[in-house]
Amino acid sequence: MTASSPSGSQGSTDPDAVVRAAGSRLDPWINDYALRASSMTASEIRALFAVASRPEVVSLAGGMPFVEALPLDRIADAVSRMIKERGSYALQYGSGQGDPQLREQILDVMSESGVVAHPDDIIVTTGSQMALDLAVRVFCDPGDVVLVEAPSYVGALSVFKSYECDVEHVAMDDDGLIPEALDEAIRAVKASGRRPKLIYTVPTYHNPAGVTQTPDRRHGVLEVAKKHDILVLEDDPYALLGFDGKVPRAIRADDSDQVVYLGSFSKTMAAGLRVGWAVAPHGVREKLVLASEAAVLCPSNFTQSVVSEFLAHEPWREQVDTFRDVYRERRDALLESMAQLFPEGTTWTVPQGGFYSWVTLPEGLDSSTMLPLAVSERVAYVPGTGFFADGQGRRSLRLSYCYPPPDRIREGVRRLAAVIEQELEFSKTFGTTGSRPLARGGVPNPDLA
Ligand SMILES: Cc1ncc(COP(=O)(O)O)c(C=O)c1O
Repeated sequence: MTASSPSGSQGSTDPDAVVRAAGSRLDPWINDYALRASSMTASEIRALFAVASRPEVVSLAGGMPFVEALPLDRIADAVSRMIKERGSYALQYGSGQGDPQLREQILDVMSESGVVAHPDDIIVTTGSQMALDLAVRVFCDPGDVVLVEAPSYVGALSVFKSYECDVEHVAMDDDGLIPEALDEAIRAVKASGRRPKLIYTVPTYHNPAGVTQTPDRRHGVLEVAKKHDILVLEDDPYALLGFDGKVPRAIRADDSDQVVYLGSFSKTMAAGLRVGWAVAPHGVREKLVLASEAAVLCPSNFTQSVVSEFLAHEPWREQVDTFRDVYRERRDALLESMAQLFPEGTTWTVPQGGFYSWVTLPEGLDSSTMLPLAVSERVAYVPGTGFFADGQGRRSLRLSYCYPPPDRIREGVRRLAAVIEQELEFSKTFGTTGSRPLARGGVPNPDLA
């Protein structure tokens, strides 16, 4: 915080100049942040989500796992057992790399995706989000380029932004990231004199696109990465949630040197435990551990022990089956109602697992400017622009089917279909859509559905 006015504003009677010099009433430290903090900005849709989280609004926006499908009594028993048996370990500081027993068990979980590793290759983190942060922290200088899918996971974009990376989006389709487009994008980055550092991909049940890379595409992406010698950051939290019960083979399964693999217990167990992991080539793993120790000393021994107890003594594969069944039913409700109700010209992806479908609106519509109307009609989604670093995505939006029950999903789609129809009508009449204030004073109506 600037305690006294810098020269130029001293003695100024201009109230704006005084605020600029001494901070603002809202944030007196405004002039003291590091440059990198200037890129950390809240999304413009945050305010709308405060309204969208009201119970009368059907939220197809957030990606919250349906933790109500967990056997809470059994988890309570497992936690109590764990504390009785090894409470003084669980409540103590632990290893910066993570609990050795849990690292062994993670090998078993990853074997489903064909990943073979040694427990020493694994670092346990506070959710896979932290692993993502650590990887970018140890690899990227400001201005380094990260190649990502178009669209890409919003939490990854925030990390890239906070380390001042340049993000280049690469085309994807229903079969996932397109290797030829990746190759071309890397060449263009190099030709512009910039350094491509990472290829970030969510190959399985993509957030937000809902699509899955085919085995050929995975192979192609790996080949391009090898050819240009760029590390792949493979983010795979949804891997086990395929609706046909099969688990796609991870890119890391075919190359242990070129890929840092990120996994998570957030979607297959409980997001609130905040336990994820990275598997990395030896040297990279050492750097990640050092970076993690600097950030948090060690991941929580308590939550790691809960996960470990659950894996050892509860039927965790059956629990994953339960989650799959819940999400499959919800995916079906979403797809069926979109097919029945969305106006012509609206298209969407058909997810084979995970939480999301990516919707493209009819020509001329804009998902960002449509959102206030949608929220006033008591349905929420995430506009497509949130998943791009460069302003693309205006015609698209993400719908999540993971949390609301099927009936609510159908009702949400019914409301959204009416909103899209209204926008189309508006656009036909006036030749444009356009932002408008939230209807009815910004407060959604009570839910009469
Ligand atoms: C693609 C992707 N990566 C990472 C994460 C973060 O997961 P975690 O809860 O393990 O930090 C998410 C969460 O939604 C995600 O969708």
